[in-house]
Amino acid sequence: MTANRVINGTKWLDTDGRVISAHGGGFLQENGYFYWFGENRHGEKLISCYRSKNLVDWEFCNDVVTMDTHPELNPSNTERPKVIFNDNTGQYIMWLHWENGIHYGEARCAVLVSDTVDGDYTYLRSFRPLGHMSRDCTLFKDEDGTAYFLSAARENADLHVYRLTDDYLDIAALEKILWPGQKREAPALMKRGQYYFLVTSGCTGWEPNQGKYAYATSITGEWSEMFDLGTPTTFDTQPTFIIPIHGTTKTTYLYVGDRWDPSDYHNSTYVFLPLEFPTDTSMRLNWASTVRIEIETGVVEADVRESDLYRLQINMLYLRGEGDQVKASRLSYADKNQLWEVEYTSPVTARIKHHLTGRYLQPKDGSPADESEIVLGDAVDHPMQEWSMVDTGQGYVKLRNCHSGKAMKLVRGSNEPLFQAEMDPRKHGRWDEQAFLLAKVFE
Ligand code: GAL
Repeated sequence: MTANRVINGTKWLDTDGRVISAHGGGFLQENGYFYWFGENRHGEKLISCYRSKNLVDWEFCNDVVTMDTHPELNPSNTERPKVIFNDNTGQYIMWLHWENGIHYGEARCAVLVSDTVDGDYTYLRSFRPLGHMSRDCTLFKDEDGTAYFLSAARENADLHVYRLTDDYLDIAALEKILWPGQKREAPALMKRGQYYFLVTSGCTGWEPNQGKYAYATSITGEWSEMFDLGTPTTFDTQPTFIIPIHGTTKTTYLYVGDRWDPSDYHNSTYVFLPLEFPTDTSMRLNWASTVRIEIETGVVEADVRESDLYRLQINMLYLRGEGDQVKASRLSYADKNQLWEVEYTSPVTARIKHHLTGRYLQPKDGSPADESEIVLGDAVDHPMQEWSMVDTGQGYVKLRNCHSGKAMKLVRGSNEPLFQAEMDPRKHGRWDEQAFLLAKVFE
């Protein structure tokens, strides 16, 4: 990290030079510091706390929750910790998503408390709020001191809004069930002016998907429909928090996302991006390679380094070229064989070049036959290396070969080749075995 700037999507080091390990993070402002609580999975599973005055230089404070904190944490999976302060009891209250360390079937939350912000937290209990399943979650303290816990319920189908008791240690009531059946997770809540904004992700495990936001004038009132936020992969991130920076010139709202690496958790990184508000009820998220934050004034300066590279996603798998072969594999940010260049030959046709080898996607031997394998071939001036893109919704396209007229298709799952087949006219968006996302690389 250079002075004063965060470099998004890279490893961030703390002031001792160690990698910051605080995913699914929550932030709390106090005594001139921002405190960052997050999942630390280096070695033992911990919740670590860091603090910073400028959101760039992070000092390690403490492993505030360890496997020794309570028998229920040995083993366990603790995710998305969030901390708020209770003005009446003087306690710091942490809520998180608790699983037993073996599978994700427990679907519980857990509550912990501490007398100091970065002290050793005391584990109170894990439970299902009012008996409901509870996975991805967040905590929000409103201006009047009322606190809310939001969590994904009913196998992540619904998003529940619970009001907490005055001591923040328990659920007072289930206030709202948001977007039933729409499977939203990774909630992050903020307030700007009269409006609350709730940002969520879709439900695709570690793979990135389309972030969305909604707004309301009351947390427990009517929420708007959901609107897209950022690209179909939300710039390869999943939301975890929104930090308000109240400066002398302006208030900036910083989107905090995890860039999970599904192939290597420890290669996951963070992204801080300033949110924009074109109107009182709309928000916009743009990519920034680096972000310079002036805490005093609240002014944020974003720089973008444009990339010409793409990843090709299908059914949450990513095209990977090696030798002649092309296979669908798990997303890996370290794997350069997953990088492609898209050379447009018209607004709707393109040649797709494997970045490392400079070879092009085509049916094997240029064959027009059904079920011909898709391979990489040396550049030739022939329509077999050209693909026309047919919109299939949600940013996805079908790729129809300009020579064979057949569409590229993923027949089986991970580490399996792709074939061409008759174009299926139906549109299933991201779960279509013929629908590809040309996902720009954001560095
Ligand atoms: C994500 C969730 C993460 C983690 C992951 C496990 O959907 O947001 O916090 O639980 O699934 O697959």
